[in-house]
Amino acid sequence: MDASQLLCLDDFEEQAQKLLPIGMWSYYRSGADNEETLRENREAYRRYWLKPRILRDVSVIDMSTSVLGEKVDAPICISPTAFHGGAHPDGEIATVKGAAVMNTLMILSSISNKSLEEVAAARPNLPKWLNVYPWRHRDVTRDIVKRAERAGFKAIVISVDISTPGSRRRVMRNVRQAAMPGKVLGTFDRYINKTAGSSPDFSFQETTSTWQYIQWLRDVSKLPIVLKGILTVEDAILAAEHNVQGILVSNHGGRQLDCVPAAIDVLADIVDAVGDKLEVYVDGGIRTGTDVLKALALGAKAIFIGRPVLYGLACNGEEGVKAVLRILREEFKRAMALTGCSQLSDISRSLLISTNDRLSKF
Ligand SMILES: Cc1cc2nc3c(=O)[nH]c(=O)nc-3n(C[C@H](O)[C@H](O)[C@H](O)COP(=O)(O)O)c2cc1C
Repeated sequence: MDASQLLCLDDFEEQAQKLLPIGMWSYYRSGADNEETLRENREAYRRYWLKPRILRDVSVIDMSTSVLGEKVDAPICISPTAFHGGAHPDGEIATVKGAAVMNTLMILSSISNKSLEEVAAARPNLPKWLNVYPWRHRDVTRDIVKRAERAGFKAIVISVDISTPGSRRRVMRNVRQAAMPGKVLGTFDRYINKTAGSSPDFSFQETTSTWQYIQWLRDVSKLPIVLKGILTVEDAILAAEHNVQGILVSNHGGRQLDCVPAAIDVLADIVDAVGDKLEVYVDGGIRTGTDVLKALALGAKAIFIGRPVLYGLACNGEEGVKAVLRILREEFKRAMALTGCSQLSDISRSLLISTNDRLSKF
């Protein structure tokens, strides 16, 4: 493979499909049910167009920002995805090294092939948050959160959109070939026996958790809390009332409830409702620098990417992750220059034309 031919994030996806075993590819690529939301995640960005402003000084473009106080060179961060070992033998270690070169923030999934301690030790100075599900065994969650604190993770990201697993036909069709990378679950291995044969699959989920769970977690740890998987203004307001520090507006990359809207289409209303109380981020379907610009124009403090990082890993390990982040950052920088923005505060809704006629209010 000639890496110089990988010019945009879609090129990485195409190349990853050629390189990955069908089972692993299906796992990474899949969405839920008919994959309506998976498709919509891309389509939605195409309904926003840009209104460039001209004759502005864009000789110096500053993309730097902070997420919950952590400084990053650009508002482009990494969403948690499970099993990086299926894309590259170095798994999450390669990811954190690639992210570190680009000085961005990584959210590590607790369903990782490398343990949270190994990932933290590989790049201690990189800002990292740890993602947990509301596991049924709360003592396991408590222990993982404590380990994350000790290892220097700066926030806990709880996925709140996964009370039951989404159904992914693409995975089921290829289940025979879906050899998950070894049986090594870096962070989880030590709990498997202790919990009488439990494994961190979906039967491991706590389906009874409610907003009280957030209070429970707050009692366990003083780390800031980010809720991942908010899609409504109502839940965003509840999140603010429960004093969480951030929300990640997300439909889990179209892998959970099918037929929910793209996160970008609900973002502005959520920012209007709670943007002055907590930080609002977005993920899902972001593949170009203009997508990043659109998300920031609609009020996101930062954006996150999921699959492109896995595809970068599959193509070229640490170098691939770095390349994916660098390409997206360069595209975003160019989009800022061409719309007349030299700093992030110049980016506003006035840059956008929406051809969105789908989202009537109920
Ligand atoms: C293979 C895969 C595994 C994922 N694992 C997790 C996870 O462990 N926790 C979580 O909150 N979200 C998980 N997600 C969802 C991502 O965090 C993110 O919301 C989504 O991938 C963003 O969309 P994008 O892939 O289009 O960028 C996963 C997504 C994929 C594709």
